[in-house]
Amino acid sequence: MTSEMHNPQSADKLRKAIFDYASQRFDYNPPPLDGPATPDQLLSQVGQTITEQGMGGENALKLFAEKLAPATISTDHPGFLSFIPAAPTEAASLFDLVVSASSIYGGSWLEGSGAVYAENQVLSFLAKEFGLPPSAGGVFVQGGTLGNLSALAVAREEVTKRQGQKSWTIICSEEAHSSIQSVAMVLGVQTTKAASGEAGFIGYESAQRAVSDAAKQGLSPMAIVGTAGTTNFGIIDDLAGLAKLAKELNIWFHVDGAYGLAGALIPELREKFNGIEQADSFIVDPHKWLFAPFDACALVYRNPVLAKQTFSQHGEYLEPINKSIEWNPSDYAFNLSRRPRGLPLWFSLATHGAGKYRSALRQNVELAHEIAQEIESRPDLRLVRKPQLSVVVFEKIGWELRDYESWSERLLSDQLAFVLPSSLRGKPHTRFAIVNPQTSFELLVEILDSMDK
Ligand SMILES: Cc1ncc(COP(=O)(O)O)c(C=O)c1O
Repeated sequence: MTSEMHNPQSADKLRKAIFDYASQRFDYNPPPLDGPATPDQLLSQVGQTITEQGMGGENALKLFAEKLAPATISTDHPGFLSFIPAAPTEAASLFDLVVSASSIYGGSWLEGSGAVYAENQVLSFLAKEFGLPPSAGGVFVQGGTLGNLSALAVAREEVTKRQGQKSWTIICSEEAHSSIQSVAMVLGVQTTKAASGEAGFIGYESAQRAVSDAAKQGLSPMAIVGTAGTTNFGIIDDLAGLAKLAKELNIWFHVDGAYGLAGALIPELREKFNGIEQADSFIVDPHKWLFAPFDACALVYRNPVLAKQTFSQHGEYLEPINKSIEWNPSDYAFNLSRRPRGLPLWFSLATHGAGKYRSALRQNVELAHEIAQEIESRPDLRLVRKPQLSVVVFEKIGWELRDYESWSERLLSDQLAFVLPSSLRGKPHTRFAIVNPQTSFELLVEILDSMDK
């Protein structure tokens, strides 16, 4: 940084402006929902922002506050119910500011031991909750897609060691997240989809049928992926059945719990996740249903040594780190430099305690069941499947995709909610993905009522 970029007087003014802005954003209840702008609108309203002389921090902040931020949809608005939203606790988001201010390198123990220690406590907490042994461990990566990639890269290495090189395929549900398909493409392997049936989950038998289908194509399974909370429906595969099959085949068992595995922290729901304790690896995303800001995926291996063998990078300048016997997070995923992105969750969990997390998760699930009952009571609506976690999927009888689309546009332009259509086997529907403790029954009823207008 040149001294010109570090003028204490102007830095002080800008710091105050930024903190005021952040503080005001935390005060909003609810935050503005806002919505997307077109590239042309942004070009005409914002124009070219990068110039040789710079516009000054306060001008850049004003542009962000007045033009850029309103062209984003606030994922923490209680009416943001599409995809899987994010609703961080204030403690988690505040601490994200601290992480940025602290400039910590989270890739090695040498540089980041205090941060890595705290992140690892969260990973150990999750591993213990889900029944993995104390030796389990991993790293926080950017998101579920990269978590799945790293876990399945280790799977390929390990299963190739056990069985020799083969034409590999990953067995997963036809309702598994699209990232599994992308991971297979990156790894140069195939996927074989097991039929999820009417109920939307796979187990021992459907996965076994997929293994037979794969064999007919000359493919050998290297991993079974169980989804603990499908993205579209929040339905949990029969993890115990899948674990049993993976064991019989001497292959890897990975659980993609990016959205739903957080639900296993609710004691009454833990049974639905039986089999998770046998996973060779799992992921769960704090930015989905653990009330942390983007972007974070907790990736945990039963035997982290295998991950270290796969991912450790070697270079002259890295050897002082590699010599250390301590935990270097960069060894446990396809990453090297990293922000200690697990810290916002650590801070919030340490602040509020796990009990408050369990209550907030339970509240979301209870609300999902309440609104599902309301949907069932309305003759013009049809619940597509009973919710297991906090996603509720329903149809308006007689509606086609364009009806959902125009209703969805209206909801956003009225700034009431962001609810997009989705579909199952080509049939359109819509869904409420509830991960925000501020989302109320009354708001969901208002959204349902708006379908009649
Ligand atoms: C089950 C599941 N797996 C993986 C992902 C991908 O996660 P990310 O968007 O963080 O890459 C998602 C995203 O919604 C998901 O629901």
